Amino acid sequence: MRKPLLAGNWKMNLGIEDSLKFVMRFLRALPNHVKPDIVICPPATSLYTVSVALSEQNRVVLGAQNCHWEESGAFTGEISPAFLSELECKYVIIGHSERRQYFLETNDILNKKLAAALKSGLIPIYCIGETLDERKAEKTLAVIEKQLAEGLGSLNFTGQNLVLAYEPVWAIGTGQVATPEQAEEVHVFIREWVKKNKSSELASHLRILYGGSVKPDNIRQLMDKPNIDGALVGGASLSVESFLELVSLDKD
Ligand code: PGA
Repeated sequence: MRKPLLAGNWKMNLGIEDSLKFVMRFLRALPNHVKPDIVICPPATSLYTVSVALSEQNRVVLGAQNCHWEESGAFTGEISPAFLSELECKYVIIGHSERRQYFLETNDILNKKLAAALKSGLIPIYCIGETLDERKAEKTLAVIEKQLAEGLGSLNFTGQNLVLAYEPVWAIGTGQVATPEQAEEVHVFIREWVKKNKSSELASHLRILYGGSVKPDNIRQLMDKPNIDGALVGGASLSVESFLELVSLDKD
């Protein structure tokens, strides 16, 4: 049985003061019965403050949005996985489509980042997904397979130290959520790939999140699908109320 996971990706939103306000309000309002694992991924500048704010409890954990693949060195502006671990980050998002698109991160680069994150004991949330043109050209599964093979093929990981997120690029920030059937089809494909290329045991334990315009009014139908184990949420994680609603859902 895979434990659901809800991760909020704040992207380049909420400075230090707003991050702290969010976390204080969120923790105060979070009901005791909430079951999924909850991860908050603030911008890098807020990580320390949020880490301190989360330190007295274990219900919400910290994630980063990116990292470099080296432990230290002459890489101006970059942050190493070791520094994130020092900040008590447990998760790190790797290969978000905005990083692929705007910062030209390739599968080869992401493979190095994934290896480095795993080595530092961080749990990568590795994002994969097709663009609208690729979907229209019926290349979705080929794109996903390439992202899996080149990103993960060479790595050793388990169902405990890595999470996958299927995020169709056309659904991110657009309000155009994938239908539960479209998402489930790709999640099944991903799980099958893991089974074939790694092991059945790993495939059955690995959590695969869906991401792209997840909101309180569409999460139920997505989570009802057997292979969707949670969500990576952008816009709807920026409001305490909607993120609370999202994390309050469990799989039946
Ligand atoms: P969205 O973003 O929920 O705003 O579509 C999802 C993501 O980018 O992870």
